[in-house]
Amino acid sequence: MSVSEIFDRLDYGPAPEDAAPAHAWLDAHGRKFGHFIDGQFTSGQGHFETVNPANGKVLAHIAQALPADVDAAVAAARRALSSWSATPGHARARVLYAIARQIQKNSRLLAVLETLDNGKPIRESRDDDVPTSARHFYHHAGWAQLAERELSGYGPVGVVGQVIPWNFPLLMLAWKIAPAIAMGNTVVLKPAELTSITALAFAELCVAAGVPPGVINIVTGDGAVGSAIVRHPGVDKIAFTGSTDVGRDIRVATAGSGKKLSLELGGKSPYVIFEDADLDSAVEGLVDAIFYNQGQVCCAGSRLLVQESVEARVLDKLRTRLERIRVGDPMDKAVDMGAIVSLDQRERIARLVKQGSEEGATVWQPSAPCPDGCFYPPTLLIGAEPASTVAQVEIFGPVLVTMTFRTPAEGIALANNTRYGLAGTVWTESLGLAVDVSRAIKAGTIWVNCTNQFDAASGFGGYRESGFGREGGREGLFEYARPLPPAGGHAPDAMPASRPAPEPREASLDRTPKLFIGGKQVRPDQGYVVPVVGVDGASIGEVGDGNRKDIRNAVEAARAASGWGTATAHLRAQILYYIAENLSARAAEFAARLVQQTGGDGAAEVEATLSRLFSYAAWADKYDGALHAVPQKGFTLAVVEPIGVMGLVCPDESPLLALVSLVGPAIAMGNTVVVVPSERHPLSATDLYQVLETSDVPAGVVNIVTGRRDVLAPVLAAHDGVDAVWYFGTDAGARVVEEKSAGNLKQTWTDWSPRDWRDPAHSEGRELLHHATQVKNIWLPGE
Ligand code: NAI
Repeated sequence: MSVSEIFDRLDYGPAPEDAAPAHAWLDAHGRKFGHFIDGQFTSGQGHFETVNPANGKVLAHIAQALPADVDAAVAAARRALSSWSATPGHARARVLYAIARQIQKNSRLLAVLETLDNGKPIRESRDDDVPTSARHFYHHAGWAQLAERELSGYGPVGVVGQVIPWNFPLLMLAWKIAPAIAMGNTVVLKPAELTSITALAFAELCVAAGVPPGVINIVTGDGAVGSAIVRHPGVDKIAFTGSTDVGRDIRVATAGSGKKLSLELGGKSPYVIFEDADLDSAVEGLVDAIFYNQGQVCCAGSRLLVQESVEARVLDKLRTRLERIRVGDPMDKAVDMGAIVSLDQRERIARLVKQGSEEGATVWQPSAPCPDGCFYPPTLLIGAEPASTVAQVEIFGPVLVTMTFRTPAEGIALANNTRYGLAGTVWTESLGLAVDVSRAIKAGTIWVNCTNQFDAASGFGGYRESGFGREGGREGLFEYARPLPPAGGHAPDAMPASRPAPEPREASLDRTPKLFIGGKQVRPDQGYVVPVVGVDGASIGEVGDGNRKDIRNAVEAARAASGWGTATAHLRAQILYYIAENLSARAAEFAARLVQQTGGDGAAEVEATLSRLFSYAAWADKYDGALHAVPQKGFTLAVVEPIGVMGLVCPDESPLLALVSLVGPAIAMGNTVVVVPSERHPLSATDLYQVLETSDVPAGVVNIVTGRRDVLAPVLAAHDGVDAVWYFGTDAGARVVEEKSAGNLKQTWTDWSPRDWRDPAHSEGRELLHHATQVKNIWLPGE
């Protein structure tokens, strides 16, 4: 071809990356791998093939871990835990730093192995996956160095089981392992069965980096191995990234086990283009949002919401751009899209596209033929109905669903018309609109006039059914840390000897005890009451026996009060002070009631309650966000947001103080609550109705349903209108709450260990505020 012809056509020539060193590395291992346990490779059994999806050739044989292998890995992690968690932060930091250096030194090998195993373009594994993995270890080397002082009062969780997917094999490993070992935990990680090779190469680098044996263990195999890790009694925490269905299964499997859990699940993230946006940039961003890694990205901008007035222009530009996209050999440095990870996944994508067409969307694909095998072309499903399957489920492929909206309000409503909440993108030249829409979209990450920005300094994770917990940033550390118990253990409140719970009975005609719902005292649905006995065993009153319908009414009232979430922090503080003022005026009466119920020091409990209300009034405008120091230009704002409607199931200890200790942080942060007060000592809660009525608490912000704790808690946990449940009861009750919460994957915080509610060092402040909030990171780029 002549030079002038090349100028005319402006086509790319082949630019293949050299795969020889990676193949030599595989050959050196006999193309057969075992597990990495206690610092050594085992030979492994039940080997299966791992193939290069771009050409179907077998790359290596991977071992399928047996239960004994999982046991050995967990045992090794347990043995290593005491010395690793006691290793000074600086020494841990040096190990993380050494891992980061090893990743950098071997970056070419890792990038090529990743592309061979996964099918993603070498450009992405070389420029994104590997450097970002190294960055994660550097960043967390810093946290290992600082944690003793910056997270004083927290210790490691213990042995952590980590299960990761195939879309970012090395990067997800880094996201999981770096914070875990920085905080002094030890790890058993399972890569996805389709993409295990870079995890095994990483294991080798751990030896070179001087990671002590047992601190990092890697076992390979399919979902059965993941399931064995999840269910292993020797594991203290599970961190999972993958499909929502498996996430739900893990939620149920770990219920009541006391295992800490973080889930990073799917998404159906909106990509919103307003008519005043820089359309060329928005389209370029869109190509990255949905076709990066062949669209196999949990936070892919897979739903285009474009303002109607610019729809035609945006789609024209997009089609023109997609005609030029290069799909092909992922080892070619000039290729834009490589292979889908497996034929199964390609099938799934094709099936969903067909379904989209049947549901009425117009399918568009570029005219150039797509290579055979695992390749799939960039695809548009134009004009999909918002409720259609393809607009709701995660396709996890290079498929963009497009819809239009007219007004910003309609755009926001469509953006939130999903059960997920992982990410969102907003394009507009109007700063005010960008800020408002970023706040209104319910998702853990919002990109304004940019997309797919990530950094270790900025937490990543979901709202709603995209899971809970964060990876990266300061907030991500709390997934791998637990508050240390007070020296000498908790001194639980003195409790009277346990008595069988009184049976509910029909209310007498003269006066039915009420519930507090929507700012009003209301009769319980069934008109039944539960007798309340005092410390001396004598009857001291009765409360309404709330049921499923009462909880539903309370949740409805709490949802209707969502404006509380956008009320100013100053106003929320004022109302908390006002509650304290009104309670203070009746301090003697509340104290006497506490003595009557528990026999404890009522005056001291009321005094502590007033102090707690003041504390959360104080925190209302002080538990705020951050500006992250990420490498990208511009601002990354970590905004603290309420979770939504919270169910608060109170313990029996310190019945007034504990209730306020839970309600205080929840409402200070803008949540609305449905409270189930102490079952045994509920009268302080019912006495509180009048205080709430006279303290300007907006209707529906605090709702109180008395009755039997373990009848009401599961109803709250199963209710899709509830976003989080805190449960302070028994281990058996906690199990039911966690199991039921799997429906909409709501966040739960359960605790049945004794807690001294009187001790502000352990029952007030940041730990509770952390559980009452979620962090949204908003990326605002510079020029
Ligand atoms: P998956 O959720 O089944 O696999 C993810 C990881 O979990 C793998 O390591 C797998 O071996 C393990 N696993 C599977 N079953 C398990 C169980 N019962 N207990 C513990 N671990 C288990 O995802 P899969 O089948 O690879 O992909 C299916 C769909 O899931 C995709 O089409 C996509 O829609 C979604 N997905 C979402 C991801 C995300 O990052 N949000 C990542 C991967 C898949």
